[in-house]
Amino acid sequence: MRQWELVSTGVFRFYSAVEAFDLAMVDTERVKAICVAHAGLEGPLLPILHAVQRAFGCVPREAVPVIAHELNLTRAEVYGVVTFYHDFREVPAGRRVIKICRAEACQAMGGVALGVAVLKHFGVNWKETSADGAVTIEPVYCLGLCSVAPAVLVDGEPHGRVEAAHLIALAGHKP
Ligand code: FES
Repeated sequence: MRQWELVSTGVFRFYSAVEAFDLAMVDTERVKAICVAHAGLEGPLLPILHAVQRAFGCVPREAVPVIAHELNLTRAEVYGVVTFYHDFREVPAGRRVIKICRAEACQAMGGVALGVAVLKHFGVNWKETSADGAVTIEPVYCLGLCSVAPAVLVDGEPHGRVEAAHLIALAGHKP
């Protein structure tokens, strides 16, 4: 269930069972400033997108026309890059990002059951964020940790021989 929602120009709202609050205003002047700061780079689009994501927690759709204008690109060109690279998000992630390996070695060592248990606990599907904003769960395909399968990344940090209860606890939930 996706709980971050764009509700009006530049305003994301987070819905949970008990509350809703503004996440961030997408300040187009700030996006412009990021573009200007990276304009001298060769191939500035990717560095700009990374900087925008650092600033806002995602690359909001409102940022796309600003970036396109500043770089003299079409919106489609910028949006195509945002959607091509899986690490760019259009809405902010949960407080923790868990990437569970779904490649062969991990699948053979309990990765399938691990994924099912964790998704079920948080009530989400792949690439979704839990309703309380605790966690975003994403698939990944081989982390080079096959010898300690099943393997995951938690906020970019590798973990091996992982059990569902451990991942659930890392996200601040009781298994
Ligand atoms: S198959 Fe999962 S780390 Fe290689």
